[in-house]
Amino acid sequence: MAVQSPKFGIIGCGNIARFHFEGLRKAGAEVVHVVDRREDVADRYVKEFGAKFSTDYRALLRNPEVSVVTILTSSQYHYPMAMEALAAGKDVVCEKTMMDCADEAEAVAKRAAETGQLFFTAYMKRFFPAAIKAKELVPRLGTLFSAQVRAYQQWGNYYDIEPGAAVSTMPLDNYGGAIIKCAGSHMIDMTLYLLGRPASVYAHVDYVPGTAFDRKATALLEYDCGLAVSLEAATHPLKRIGYERNSWDEFIQINGVNGRLELFTVKWDEPENNPALLIHYDNETETTTEHRFGCVNPFDVEMEYMVRCLQDRVQGSPSAVDGFNVDLVIESMVESSKRRAPLTFDWRGL
Ligand SMILES: NC(=O)c1ccc[n+]([C@@H]2O[C@H](COP(=O)([O-])OP(=O)(O)OC[C@H]3O[C@@H](n4cnc5c(N)ncnc54)[C@H](O)[C@@H]3O)[C@@H](O)[C@H]2O)c1
Repeated sequence: MAVQSPKFGIIGCGNIARFHFEGLRKAGAEVVHVVDRREDVADRYVKEFGAKFSTDYRALLRNPEVSVVTILTSSQYHYPMAMEALAAGKDVVCEKTMMDCADEAEAVAKRAAETGQLFFTAYMKRFFPAAIKAKELVPRLGTLFSAQVRAYQQWGNYYDIEPGAAVSTMPLDNYGGAIIKCAGSHMIDMTLYLLGRPASVYAHVDYVPGTAFDRKATALLEYDCGLAVSLEAATHPLKRIGYERNSWDEFIQINGVNGRLELFTVKWDEPENNPALLIHYDNETETTTEHRFGCVNPFDVEMEYMVRCLQDRVQGSPSAVDGFNVDLVIESMVESSKRRAPLTFDWRGL
């Protein structure tokens, strides 16, 4: 059978779009149709790829030339766009978080499975070479007994806010939540990628008083094997903390009876400044190895991988189910905190 090159239609040309377009350009992929409500933000991509332009995403879905739809809009549009793209017979690449809630994510994952079309949720941090190496090394740790996960981002001081002071609603409006959705989601995905699905969660979510703006979220994820993972996502005002001493403080540490892995990721929109770092301590040889890689942009690796999967008709990961997993963990953290009680995950047959 002749290999069919994917032909991309991209919806949304905002903040994240440049990484997708650049990755697709480097992968030699075709972009045939571009959509945004604003022509001015789409113009450079339309010209660069010689693509059609529309302001209405349904025009892109009707375009028979488009074989895969990339959804890069704010999160409240992910659900209708994904469902309509699948109904139109397209494969889908969707930015994170996949949907605004677990019910929507479940419906999309089930629909994608029914149609047999390919669906990718773009958690790009899995594509740092250091993260790929970490995945390879996890079995070397032997029986796992604990892990710590952190996603701290410098958004300013959200802890000394005067009662009644105005707080930006942008993350809530655009992304469906603040620190859990923006920072926590990535490291929840990383945790599930490296360690699999937990059995239950107990969480505390801390909001700016009087608002729905989550400024800190702390969770204990328990696994059937006895592994316990503590995870925290937080806004903070600390300018020089973290592995790069640039305020970006994001890592996962995994402890097993045979050793330890420490993975430090780097600032998402400046990955060319530093490589992500992986440290492996091996208890048999009593040696510590620092795995350092070139300054790779994980979006480039991700795009190249997804283009290859689309060409070969292979459902790689992160898939729609991976996107659902993260959405369910986030929703369960919020619910556990509200009830002040642990919750057992129901993975809904996915
Ligand atoms: N992977 C990451 O690290 C990362 C980082 C930032 C954002 N994101 C995700 O990327 C997505 C987009 O975020 P962003 O920061 O680029 O947002 P943005 O607001 O900068 O861009 C969204 C673009 O989509 C367009 N748009 C919105 N709704 C539309 C509609 N109905 N029809 C046509 N055009 C529409 C807007 O005009 C805008 O240009 C979100 O899901 C977000 O969570 C991921």
